[in-house]
Amino acid sequence: MSDPNCTPQLADSHGRVMDYLRLAVTDRCNFRCVYCLPDGADESEPHTLSLAQIERILRVLGSMGVRKVKITGGEPLVHPEIVDIVRLAKNSPNIVNVTLTTNGLLLDKLAPGLIAAGLDAVNISLDTLDPARFHYLTRRDYLPRVLAGLDLVLAAGDLAVKVNCVPTADSPMADLLALAGLAKDRRLHVRYIELMPIGLGQGLKGLDPQELTRALVATYGPLTPVSRQLGNGPATYFALPGFVGRVGFISAVQSRFCDRCNRLRVTADGFFKTCLHMDRGLQLPLADEAAMVETIRRAVRLKPASHLFNQDPQTPQDSPAPQAPRADQSADPLPENRLMSRIGG
Ligand code: 5AD
Ligand code: SF4
Repeated sequence: MSDPNCTPQLADSHGRVMDYLRLAVTDRCNFRCVYCLPDGADESEPHTLSLAQIERILRVLGSMGVRKVKITGGEPLVHPEIVDIVRLAKNSPNIVNVTLTTNGLLLDKLAPGLIAAGLDAVNISLDTLDPARFHYLTRRDYLPRVLAGLDLVLAAGDLAVKVNCVPTADSPMADLLALAGLAKDRRLHVRYIELMPIGLGQGLKGLDPQELTRALVATYGPLTPVSRQLGNGPATYFALPGFVGRVGFISAVQSRFCDRCNRLRVTADGFFKTCLHMDRGLQLPLADEAAMVETIRRAVRLKPASHLFNQDPQTPQDSPAPQAPRADQSADPLPENRLMSRIGG
């Protein structure tokens, strides 16, 4: 595909063009979701990227072909300079779209600043509208604040809003259906993300999306596929009768979409990660932009063709965990060993 600005493109050895960065600005989080972060997880050594480091990362990746940035965490809103980060990203050369994934807790305070800084869209991770289930899933009692934050961003005008839910086999169907109901009268899309066997997700069972689809149809009526892409990602969307918003499914494991992957990740400890599932990537030399360019080129060349969710019999419990990113990334990559809170989804 030709680039309208004639700026360079960042292609991997499988011919895929990388224009989308997921940037984890911190791995701290104020929730402890059961599929993501252990209760009592130690935060004595959190990783947080500084504004200066983020500026360099975005300048370098923007100059190499990245156009869209999703700010993630941990929980990105606990970064003390999150509003400045959004403003900086929006003003970064060649970056045209800046979005954020959050658990929503701090939106009640930060939404106005984020919107003024130019944020294009926000994804709110919300698995249930039931306070007791919310407490069980997040180990926190913050549902009213998350809902207040959601209302605030919806009222704020043209910011695109999505709600992300990760159904597990024990999710009450009524809960999942109630979440879809958010899109009936609100200008937001509700997406169901297939549970991935990463980190704590390995100990849980996901819900069969077919089961959810059947229940949605029985409750709300037929699902009509929507062809228009509604974001940066691989979700498939459906319209429901009388609904303002859409319902979407992201099935990374079942319907592998690796052949269309345009994603790169930088974790809060400065690791340049080229695949969500595989431990493949290189540590970025954050203080040296020229060295960063070289490192990124090398790492992108080694981006795996696809994840191995479906064929990898090993788990970190029964395979020795790599203690640090391995220097020799030309060897077969190992499955990811980090917690999801360290990757940013
Ligand atoms: N599988 C799928 N999604 C996950 N998330 C966290 N852990 C998992 C997992 N194992 C999601 C969160 C949030 C996003 C950052 O990642 O629900 O929406
Ligand atoms: Fe925090 Fe998000 Fe992980 Fe929940 S899923 S613990 S909100 S990083």
